[in-house]
Amino acid sequence: MCGIVGYVGEQPALDVVVEGLRRLEYRGYDSSGVAVLGDAGLQVERRAGKLANLDAALAGHAMPGTLGIGHTRWATHGAPTDRNAHPHTDCTGALAIVHNGTIENFAELRDGLERRGHELSSDTDTEAVAHLLEERYAQQETQGDLAAAVRAVCADLEGSFVLVVAHRDHPDLVIGARRNLPLVVGLGEGENFLASDVTAFISHTREARSLDQDQVVELRRTGVRVTDLAGTEVDGDQFHVDWDTAAAEKGGFEYFMLKEIQEQPEAVSETIGGRIGVDGRLTLDELSISDEDIRGFEKVFIVAAGSSYHSGLIGKYAIERWCRLPVEVEMSSEFRYRDPVLDRHTLVIAISQSGETADTLEAVRHAREQRAWVLTISNTVGSSMARESDAAFYTRGGPEVAVASTKAVMTQLAAVYLVGLYLAQVRGTRDEDEVRSHFRDLATIPALIEDVLGRMDGVRKLARELSDQDRVLFLGRHVGYPMALEGALKLKELAYISAEGMPAGEIKHGPIALIDKGTPVVVLATRHALQPKLVTNVQEIRARGARTVVIATDGDDSATPYADHLIRLPDTKSLLSPMLTLVPLQVFAAEFAMARGLDVDQPRNLAKSVTVE
Ligand code: G6P
Repeated sequence: MCGIVGYVGEQPALDVVVEGLRRLEYRGYDSSGVAVLGDAGLQVERRAGKLANLDAALAGHAMPGTLGIGHTRWATHGAPTDRNAHPHTDCTGALAIVHNGTIENFAELRDGLERRGHELSSDTDTEAVAHLLEERYAQQETQGDLAAAVRAVCADLEGSFVLVVAHRDHPDLVIGARRNLPLVVGLGEGENFLASDVTAFISHTREARSLDQDQVVELRRTGVRVTDLAGTEVDGDQFHVDWDTAAAEKGGFEYFMLKEIQEQPEAVSETIGGRIGVDGRLTLDELSISDEDIRGFEKVFIVAAGSSYHSGLIGKYAIERWCRLPVEVEMSSEFRYRDPVLDRHTLVIAISQSGETADTLEAVRHAREQRAWVLTISNTVGSSMARESDAAFYTRGGPEVAVASTKAVMTQLAAVYLVGLYLAQVRGTRDEDEVRSHFRDLATIPALIEDVLGRMDGVRKLARELSDQDRVLFLGRHVGYPMALEGALKLKELAYISAEGMPAGEIKHGPIALIDKGTPVVVLATRHALQPKLVTNVQEIRARGARTVVIATDGDDSATPYADHLIRLPDTKSLLSPMLTLVPLQVFAAEFAMARGLDVDQPRNLAKSVTVE
């Protein structure tokens, strides 16, 4: 997501901060900005686009000073424009703030601020925090005490955030605060640093200190003080960083893909965060199609490519189940060429991590020409697809660097469930209690993914054991089928072997001829209504010599007698189970490919974003 840097010391702060931002570029961003405090006061410069745009602006703007903060923004609230770029300031320009994360109660806070006479000039949730801080700083209890004001504001915020603040009254103080997102302290001699990760400051110091949840750090030239939100000073863990820059970017993982798999609980929390409004109803701010038009939909098409297409297949199950609307899912490269029947009562949902895939973009254009409504589900705010659609729903999964998609797919799954529930709520096909109950189930998923991630040693061992095989089959039924396709695609992309995903019920009609003695077959056999039939399918392939890898729910032993290898997952509602089965499939493919000595971040012949048809 966003990158944050804070500095106070003896060096020109602008140089240190911009260099830090440059080292954080790998996190992905679409605008950047800095604030420096010096003799000329607190100065701010910010620009949409890459750091080169900021550099150009800074070339004509001297910003002397030895205290600074900086930000690379990856847009979530509001488009990536100059106006929305950080730092944000309060009404008086006395303080500047940078922020990473999502403030869930932002609409409420902003309403209150506007009622009290504050003028907000951006679409961001961050700017509201700047004005809240202005109020707290002026209030009697915290007057003039910047750290106390930040602590008081943090207590009022819901959601996840890292905040870094500078104030013109405090030439030797940078304040940082964190909840759920990363912020580390770099400890130097006569200078100290704050950053989203150690990459930003390891050219200056390798001594660092971590911060826990809801802690506030006061950074001065000569030292660092950390408190909890009640103001009590706390001890922290100091550590020495011996990673080089490349390892630091990957958080110590060998590949970005492994880091991105690990980031999935946090990514899903971002996707589902802030979606329940004050009235207890599901709200999707970015959906700008009226309730009346939503009630008029008669059918839905989902168009997507690659892994996003598999998320679309899951969307079909969710929307048909909850909304009783017919849904067709089509690969975007085929969609417009068969002249699909579209009209004003059709909703076309385009799913695309990048929002730039040419096949899907052309499908969007075709759908709009035919007067259908288009909703884009994308990870990229302001992408071509989002701009050309009637509405956009952002997955907020954070930048994905590895070519093969992992956390982007995971957040797309959360998004299709949310869109399905939203449509059901508006169309009245599910009552509010039921929508809330499904949402609550979805909200348990990040912790369950965390649990699954902790169980992956056996999967890695199995992948290494099987890595000499030159084909693997994946079987699933119902929502397990699209995940079987995704498991196979991951293995093809990363390990360059033949892998096929199939509906388990279909194998007896042909594919069973592929089964030979020792053929590895991964069976997605988590608990669901079709499971007895799936167990029969497992028996059929095992009788023909298959080496079965069975993915089963904790406590369910119906398929385990036919498992040569068993992978256990925690229980969840069967419709949501793809968000758990996806994890061992990703880990299996990555480990399988690494055991073959392959680069899993940059598989041969593949591109992250395919902008040609
Ligand atoms: C490329 C990538 C895939 C991705 C597909 C769709 O082929 O290699 O990982 O699933 O594009 O990308 P999109 O950005 O539209 O989701």
